[in-house]
Amino acid sequence: MDPLFIELQGITKHFPGVIANDHIDLAVRRGEIHAIVGENGAGKSTLMRILYGLYQPDRGTIEVNGHPDVIDSPRRALQLGIGMVHQHFTLIPVFTVAENVILGSEPTAWGQLRMTDAHQQVAELCKQYGFSLDPAALVGRLSVGEQQRVEIIKVLYRGAELLILDEPTAVLVPQEVEELFSNLRRLREQGKTIIFISHKLDEVLAISDRITVLRRGRVIGTVMAGVASKAQLAEMMVGRPVLLDLAHPPVTPGAVRLEARHLSVPGASARLPVRDVSLSVRGSEIYGIAGVEGNGQTELVEALVGLRALSRGALLIDGHDVSKTTARAIRLLGVAHIPEDRHRRGLVLPMAVWENVILGHHYREEFTNGPLLNRPAIDDFVRRRVNEYDIRVADTEAPVLALSGGNQQKVIVAREFAFAPKVLVAAQPTRGLDIGATEFVMRQLLEAREAGMAVLLVSANLEEILALSDRIGVMYGGRLVGEFVRGAATPAELGLYMTGAKRQGEANVG
Ligand SMILES: Nc1ncnc2c1ncn2[C@@H]1O[C@H](COP(=O)(O)OP(=O)(O)OP(=O)(O)O)[C@@H](O)[C@H]1O
Ligand SMILES: [Mg+2]
Repeated sequence: MDPLFIELQGITKHFPGVIANDHIDLAVRRGEIHAIVGENGAGKSTLMRILYGLYQPDRGTIEVNGHPDVIDSPRRALQLGIGMVHQHFTLIPVFTVAENVILGSEPTAWGQLRMTDAHQQVAELCKQYGFSLDPAALVGRLSVGEQQRVEIIKVLYRGAELLILDEPTAVLVPQEVEELFSNLRRLREQGKTIIFISHKLDEVLAISDRITVLRRGRVIGTVMAGVASKAQLAEMMVGRPVLLDLAHPPVTPGAVRLEARHLSVPGASARLPVRDVSLSVRGSEIYGIAGVEGNGQTELVEALVGLRALSRGALLIDGHDVSKTTARAIRLLGVAHIPEDRHRRGLVLPMAVWENVILGHHYREEFTNGPLLNRPAIDDFVRRRVNEYDIRVADTEAPVLALSGGNQQKVIVAREFAFAPKVLVAAQPTRGLDIGATEFVMRQLLEAREAGMAVLLVSANLEEILALSDRIGVMYGGRLVGEFVRGAATPAELGLYMTGAKRQGEANVG
């Protein structure tokens, strides 16, 4: 058995009103890929921040290579060989890969650093670990998966022996996940140790050697990945068996509620991110948009909810042309929106949880008392939403940024499902959610469908699209390249459209 690299004992961390980590014991062996799983708010990120020196534990000890140590800063963590790969990237887009990698690690020598040396060093690291990256490429031009590789190389360049990756796959498309996994396996072969966090249990089972499950700040157990199952992990996480299937009963669709006619949308460059897209969504219908991310889905969603102007075509809600109206006016017509980028569009991070729960609804009659907010009514509403959606928060006066990632997402979902919208445009609604919360949101979407709502669902998760949709449109290169009724296409077939290998009828092509 490999020797222990890290041993955490009795790690405890309180935040106002919550015990994020409650006497956690965790042993990580040198050369293993150790996954940490648990519900939203279980304390995974907190524990990792403690190990990386960003937070100090209230109690408990850390041993590195058998020696007790106080990790009081990321600098100290790196000296001990512990590195963390950032989830929200910290790279500078106008710099090259090599410049980003060396930036900040040798501040005094920066002035004299020969870039050719840096390129060479970075190229060698890439070669050693089998990363496909061009050291001279501008970071701003890279895909998300490539940027992540730069972040990993950056941590390796600083001498990390242990890499902490907190939900690295949440931002990746399936092909990129495969590539990341082969990189991680290569790192393991060369003796590196990896701590990997994900809500996708299939991924966890595929990549890790051992898996530790946390629930409400405590360790429930550590299992060998080879003998663990998805159902077993889910039950350890949630504390009860989790059903992993959903019923999709037949319903008769109603009238068309959301319609896009030959919609084109401008973007940053001359190339239109959305080109000539026509689609319609009826009441009691879920229209799923499948596609590899970056094929125009983001821009299409923004156009549909009025956040982006159209360059051509028309947008209709219940037959009314809203092509030239504001996002606010579209919202007032009953269109709700779960945005893909929750930090930029969905939440005001420094504002209280309760304010975020009613954001955009605060002007409603039931929440006002003349010019004032009706706090008792708001508090009652917020309490009910927080309970129903199981948002883990001690005090709704706390800023929403104090919530765990998944609980932030639940705040948005709880808000957008309120007040029975007629149309829901949901982009990546379950991203970052744990298995129980994902199941809950999927059920909500199905119930909304039965209640007559028109749902446009954009998801990078093909399984989710297949489970929920009545019809599926595939986007590729800004166009809708195929449309299928439920059951008409296999995942493999959809994959061909998603990668541009196939497209339907020439009418869509140009
Ligand atoms: N800076 C902070 N201030 C106050 N509370 C915090 C802070 N950071 C985390 N918490 C709380 O600690 C608990 C654990 O949060 P943490 O982010 O560690 O969860 P997580 O397991 O990473 O969840 P997720 O899967 O949603 O990312 C949560 O209740 C969260 O609200
Ligand atoms: Mg987290």
